[in-house]
Amino acid sequence: MVRHFIDTNDFTKQEILDIIRLGLTLKKCINVGYYPPLLKNKTLGMIFEQTSTRTRVSFETAMAQLGGHAQYLAPGQIQFGVHETLGDTGKVLSRLVDILVARVHRHQTIVDLANSCNIPVINGMSDYNHPTQEIGDVTTMVEHLPPGKRLEDCKVVFVGDATQVCASLCFITTKLGMHFVQFGPKSHQLKEHHRTIAEANCKVSGGSYLITDDADEAMKDADFVYTDVWYGLYDAELSQEERMAIFYPKYQVNRELMAKASPHAKFMHCLPATRGEEITNEVLDAPYSIAWDQAGNRLTAMRAILVYLLRPQESQQSKIDAAKAELDQVLADIM
Ligand code: CP
Repeated sequence: MVRHFIDTNDFTKQEILDIIRLGLTLKKCINVGYYPPLLKNKTLGMIFEQTSTRTRVSFETAMAQLGGHAQYLAPGQIQFGVHETLGDTGKVLSRLVDILVARVHRHQTIVDLANSCNIPVINGMSDYNHPTQEIGDVTTMVEHLPPGKRLEDCKVVFVGDATQVCASLCFITTKLGMHFVQFGPKSHQLKEHHRTIAEANCKVSGGSYLITDDADEAMKDADFVYTDVWYGLYDAELSQEERMAIFYPKYQVNRELMAKASPHAKFMHCLPATRGEEITNEVLDAPYSIAWDQAGNRLTAMRAILVYLLRPQESQQSKIDAAKAELDQVLADIM
């Protein structure tokens, strides 16, 4: 069965932990100079309706490091919902590449694409979700766990707008049994449908979630403090005047806000950051900021997600042996 990764909630807790472990092991291999060719002869198609630095570059690098190849399919350069249906594009690409990633304006686009494909489809960010970001984020938390704590013991506070990153962080932390808080203004808090998912996750995992506009309640004992930009969706950005009126100064992560968290708290940001708005230089560039490790772990996450989704099925080896025997016979016949 083809597995897609279009929603942060798609994988079970065990699958997420397996992918993170795989990513950390591959990272160790590559850091000592061993590049396992696990994606040899595999091709990734990369469809981007929006700009991207981290997501695009980390996918392309991951494919190259593991022996595969990536094709960047830029906006306006393929027929993506233009001149043919999205479903027809999906059917064709399923025959031309092994796996697809798409960054799309609307989440329904990636759902429709996945429904038409019989190869794995990965969400490179939609207006609802940013699942690959979250594999990298939790990987970074694992690398920076407070002494003596497990993931399940950690409180993760997201400060600011209920972006797709905020929703994805809520889903993955509650699925893993962690304690999630969104500290944001009432007008920009996670919605009822997000809360329903968080609640269902917590019932299974033992985690918790809280959505509040009270700074002291939110920040108390926080192990990880996370923020994202205030301008909203790429194709409908709020003006600086509009966003500052909503979020500034209460929801800016600065030294005063960090002082309300645990003394060992780490700062996280998915980037790109708007310095001086949601985050100050003194926090983003502080020794306790792990935002740069987070950016590096986008690559750790992509390697693991690609290998996981493309891993050979048990039944595949006998098919490979039969195909090789048939090819050997054809070559022998025409020699
Ligand atoms: N965090 C993130 O997705 O960055 P890009 O938009 O640069 O890919």
